[in-house]
Amino acid sequence: HLAKTIVETTANEFDQVNCSLFIYKPRRHVLQRVAFVGPCDIPTVSVNMDCDGTGLVPKCFRNQEVLYTPDVGAVPDFVVNWSEAKSELSIPLMVGNQIIAILDMESAEPDAFNEDDIRLLRIFGEKAALVLHQTMLNVKEQKRLTSLVELQKMGNELSTLHDEAAVMQTLIQHMPVITGEPLALVLMFNPQQTLLDVTACSRVDQNPPATGFPRFTDEPMLQSLKQDGTYLVHDVDTESPFLRQVLPDEVKSFFAFSLFIEGKCIGAIAIASRDKINPSPEEMTTNELIAKIVSSSIANARLFASTNRSLERLASLRRIDMAIASSTDMEFTLGVVLDQLIDQLHVDAASILLYHEDDFSLRYCTGRGFHSPIFLHANVRIGQDYAGKVALDRKSIYIPNLNDPDTAPANIPAFKEEGFGAYFGVPIIAKGVVKGVLEVFMRRPFTPADEWLDFLEIIGGQAAIAIEGITLFANLQRSNAELSMAYDSTLEGWASALELRDKETEGHTRRVAELTVDLAMTLNIKQDKLIYIRWGALLHDIGKMAIPDDILLKPGALTDDEWVIMRMHPQYAFDMLSRIDYLRPAIDIPYAHHEKWDGSGYPRGLKGEEIPYAARIFSIIDVWDALTSDRPYRKAWSKQKTIDYILEQKGKHFDPQIVEAFIPLILNRDGFRA
Ligand code: C2E
Ligand code: SIN
Ligand code: SIN
Ligand code: SIN
Ligand code: FE
Ligand code: FE
Repeated sequence: HLAKTIVETTANEFDQVNCSLFIYKPRRHVLQRVAFVGPCDIPTVSVNMDCDGTGLVPKCFRNQEVLYTPDVGAVPDFVVNWSEAKSELSIPLMVGNQIIAILDMESAEPDAFNEDDIRLLRIFGEKAALVLHQTMLNVKEQKRLTSLVELQKMGNELSTLHDEAAVMQTLIQHMPVITGEPLALVLMFNPQQTLLDVTACSRVDQNPPATGFPRFTDEPMLQSLKQDGTYLVHDVDTESPFLRQVLPDEVKSFFAFSLFIEGKCIGAIAIASRDKINPSPEEMTTNELIAKIVSSSIANARLFASTNRSLERLASLRRIDMAIASSTDMEFTLGVVLDQLIDQLHVDAASILLYHEDDFSLRYCTGRGFHSPIFLHANVRIGQDYAGKVALDRKSIYIPNLNDPDTAPANIPAFKEEGFGAYFGVPIIAKGVVKGVLEVFMRRPFTPADEWLDFLEIIGGQAAIAIEGITLFANLQRSNAELSMAYDSTLEGWASALELRDKETEGHTRRVAELTVDLAMTLNIKQDKLIYIRWGALLHDIGKMAIPDDILLKPGALTDDEWVIMRMHPQYAFDMLSRIDYLRPAIDIPYAHHEKWDGSGYPRGLKGEEIPYAARIFSIIDVWDALTSDRPYRKAWSKQKTIDYILEQKGKHFDPQIVEAFIPLILNRDGFRA
């Protein structure tokens, strides 16, 4: 608007002149025509003039002084824009010694401007420069503000997400507003860090980039992202043949910022610009900050997913155990084993071959997912093919790619017929004796993650237990205690994963669990309930998995908004644990440990004996332990101060009778006097 007013005001003073205002764009080093009036309707020169190029306007820019050309025909710098032009006057608009714009007039008359005109325009130019400068600063400030507000909005949204794909989508939605550049990409490394895949991308205006980017394998880019944490290409045309090939033509600059999880580069966020620019230090800082926020959101999403997967896998083991305990039918039980395996590991086919001592052969017992009947008749001699070798060496064989003759030596026609691409064979060994082989297949090459292989081996172990129990023809009487032991150690491992994130001290959760069980015993809780109290205590803060780092690890007090999220952790725990049959009896503590005796707690605001007994016991231990430990938000309290506090909260936060039992217990245990 202002530019338009400036050119109109100027043009009104003269007959038959074209008047333009060019603003200097330092990042691109161009002069951009932002307003124009005059008899020449359409300026035929490009809107942007290179500051280092030919033309009287760039020349005026370089000289930083008024440039009057009475006869444009006589100078070599003149660029014909309007064929009628005979004379030209360019006024630099300066603030201090900085040029911010150029006001330019072309006249159809030769020598159209006299001394007075020039003096007048010089004064007008000084005033216009000041107003223009102020307006440009305001616009810039406005843009910065929009960008900051958007960044804040994105941060809030990200902190509620627990899903990696959703994190990327949210990022991509906000990036164009934050950066002012229309194209943003998320690039993720493969596990070997040898290539990047585009996993999310915003559009370039209305045109989506050619569907499906190729994989990014450009070595300089991969190295730079891994080592420097950034990859900056100022001019795609001349600096990166790779990017020139994969990015839309209008992209001129490309800046990528690495995402790191625990020091490992997992990928990058990239911003592409249609201008040849260098990011300003301020933009660098913003982008690095975004990369940090997004890295931590992805890390949390992954932790959350892997926790849920562990839970599902535990539940799946439980179903196998139940099948083992309740059946004496080999085919049925091993069928359940395979169903659970397929469910958890998403394999295409699986079978169990049993070892027959009489003729040293492995023969098919049960299978899933095969198309042809060949496998039903599988009969492999020990040492022969993959299965025979697994049994002979008592060692698993993993072949991620059956099509690669270097890593897949055996050529088994049945595999070809089924179209298998990957093979995993695990020996089934019970009490040191080979009972058979568990085989799983994918119809594509497949490189599994460690946790996938771990679970496969565990299933092999379960199959061994099933086979042993049934072949001995004794009904497998695994005592409840034995079963519990297995779960207990799994849960302990899990609890320490939680501690790691919460930055708690090693073994803290286990100590809290032990103290809780001690107090429960003092209160004469029945023996068979104690294991659930222990599990509940181990898992009490599992819901904090879903709380973002910036809240969980915040050094100061929480804001109201942050409290809303923090108070969801018992509900998250309920959602996660209630799906697992065998953990349901242990859910009271995770779900109700922040309820208070006087009804002022959360999430349900239960009161008095409405609060499950186990949770009432545990809440005292939780607060005891929290207050006597350092937290990111405060230093540890002394034991005496903590005891005073717990006594003071008797009947408010805590069940008075349980406090009565707790005080002597803790005094005894810690051997000091109140
Ligand atoms: P936490 O640190 O494990 O604390 C468990 C419970 O111990 C708290 O539940 C509270 O009842 C008691 N407690 C802990 N520290 C204090 C304290 O300094 N003073 C008093 N009077 N009681 C304390 P609450 O309040 O429901 O908090 C649940 C979780 O929320 C805490 O678990 C912690 O992770 C987080 N949190 C609580 N306050 C803050 C805070 O000021 N800043 C941050 N960053 N996190 C907080
Ligand atoms: C089979 O046909 O299932 C056994 C072949 C092998 O795994 O070696
Ligand atoms: C797969 O996607 O094929 C298996 C990955 C897994 O669930 O561990
Ligand atoms: C539990 O459900 O964890 C046991 C609580 C009780 O003993 O009442
Ligand atoms: Fe806690
Ligand atoms: Fe808690």
